[in-house]
Amino acid sequence: MEENMTHASPDAPPVREAVTVQGMSIAYVSDDRYNAVVNDVSFSLQQSDRLAIVGESGSGKTTLAMAVAGLLPSRIAKIDCSAASIAGKNVDMSASAAVIPTRRQGVSMIFQDAMTSLDPVASIGHQFRTVLGSLTSQSRSQIRKEAVQWLDKVGIHEPERVIKLHSYEMSGGMRQRVMIALALCSKPLLLIADEPTSALDASVSRRVMDLILELTAELGTALIIITHDIDLAREYTNKSLVLYHGHVQDFCDTAQFGDENRSPYTRSLLACVPRLNSYDLDALPTLDHNAALTKEA
Ligand SMILES: Nc1ncnc2c1ncn2[C@@H]1O[C@H](COP(=O)(O)OP(=O)(O)OP(=O)(O)O)[C@@H](O)[C@H]1O
Ligand SMILES: [Mg+2]
Repeated sequence: MEENMTHASPDAPPVREAVTVQGMSIAYVSDDRYNAVVNDVSFSLQQSDRLAIVGESGSGKTTLAMAVAGLLPSRIAKIDCSAASIAGKNVDMSASAAVIPTRRQGVSMIFQDAMTSLDPVASIGHQFRTVLGSLTSQSRSQIRKEAVQWLDKVGIHEPERVIKLHSYEMSGGMRQRVMIALALCSKPLLLIADEPTSALDASVSRRVMDLILELTAELGTALIIITHDIDLAREYTNKSLVLYHGHVQDFCDTAQFGDENRSPYTRSLLACVPRLNSYDLDALPTLDHNAALTKEA
């Protein structure tokens, strides 16, 4: 399902609203039974926004992201959404039409595991041709030139050599950089990064996050980062959406994460983040330790 939309471009007039989702609920379908995993989620982002979606495993973060990106087919999921728009244009985000999932135009997504997300049998150059060839009428050599520029932009050394490689011939950090280049070369209005750095070591992880931030800011692309890392959310995002069992507990400015008027669940989640003075505790706090708070949520 491809909507007719324009892409963000540094030369284009500023578009303030990137994406708005109102009342999105998602249920997985199995043997004619529905398993509701996301319930009545609403959020709105401007192009300059960077949203963190946080919540424990199974809370529905990836499901929500896949629905927004148009990657959930009607065969496995039922999506209800009272209204949605990208760059001010109405978009049908219900899964009923998405028999074959196709990336929603204007939205790109990168995943935790670049090894399984990149095509193992196609060279990196071929994968750029697939993305850029579907968007422009450029010749093969023009696309190759643009792909090399993108590889250079994401910090890949010897891009002319790397463009001929396959994903299994690269390190994890290189693969993640290639995936970022492939996601951003279409100049999307929204980039969704699903735990983009959790498979990388701490120093590479920060460099990759810095790169994502720098490039999305340059393109005017709004960013959604799905993460378990509260400190990463605090460092790299300005808005946060906290999910618990598919329900929104908080949608707030990240700077106000620790405020007293946050939900009991959010406060419980924050209380689990280890601090420098945690060394004198017998055990680090867990959500179970804060069960009283969680039950209130
Ligand atoms: N294809 C699927 N079919 C049926 N149920 C699914 C499917 N994918 C996910 N689920 C279920 O939906 C719920 C939400 O899963 P989801 O992957 O969205 O959670 P998550 O918050 O991204 O978790 P994690 O942090 O572990 O990645 C879980 O209970 C999961 O078992
Ligand atoms: Mg997930």
